[in-house]
Amino acid sequence: MTLNNKIINIIEWHVDAGVTVAVGEEPRSLYAVRVEPPAANIVPVIQAVASPSTNFPPQFDSNPMKKTISPPSRRLAQQCQTLEELRQAMSNFNDCPLKLTATNMVFSDGNPEAKIMVIGEAPGADEDIQGKPFVGLSGKLLDRMFATIGLSRQENIYIINIVPWRPPGNRQPTTQEITQCLPFVQRHIELIRPDLLILVGGVAAKTILDTNEGIMRLRGRWHDYTSEGLEAPIKCMATFHPAFLLRSPAQKAQVWRDLLTVQQEQHSRK
Ligand code: URA
Repeated sequence: MTLNNKIINIIEWHVDAGVTVAVGEEPRSLYAVRVEPPAANIVPVIQAVASPSTNFPPQFDSNPMKKTISPPSRRLAQQCQTLEELRQAMSNFNDCPLKLTATNMVFSDGNPEAKIMVIGEAPGADEDIQGKPFVGLSGKLLDRMFATIGLSRQENIYIINIVPWRPPGNRQPTTQEITQCLPFVQRHIELIRPDLLILVGGVAAKTILDTNEGIMRLRGRWHDYTSEGLEAPIKCMATFHPAFLLRSPAQKAQVWRDLLTVQQEQHSRK
């Protein structure tokens, strides 16, 4: 085997194992004991939220809204009066380490005048490249799901994610990452002021509803979302993530029920 073929084999092996993102110049074993001081600007958040050593493998292990600390993003987000200011504040924000490995920030897609706002988890590989939420395989399914009740991103929905940068290798965002980005999401909701929120998947549902309950229990019924900058609560429906439906198509029937409930509510508001 030539050296080139060997290198290609090694790269293919990594891609098959899901290693698709270069996070540094040097290869690094996650199991090697290596004590490095964290970057100065992320120390306060990491120390305040959780010990980094408890966070491997990264998990959505507790509810970030229950933390009493105020991440630096909160003040920045609260100052934003328009979507453009929010986009600028987020793209100038350097405290979330996900930004270092992402290609693009994924701000939003859809109609900012829409009455329905959809919140997903985090960009994947396709979203990272295109800078738009839900443009990959699960995005195609999401569009088809909403089309069944007459909704589309061109017309009547607006879509964001809990974190705007792709977590390397498509892992779940950690509690720290979510805590850092949450004030931007909260401000985003306040600026759009939708009538209804649709929370897609467990991470979005737990984060926005401020609960540790799982998506199985949260989906299919109405919840209220409130924040300081909102005059009245917003009704939220949680449902399964399309990526989960791609793996478990039998659950589509439940999502169909959730969507019909949303449609009924939408019609009752006309
Ligand atoms: N999954 C999400 O939760 N959001 C995206 O934008 C893409 C996939």
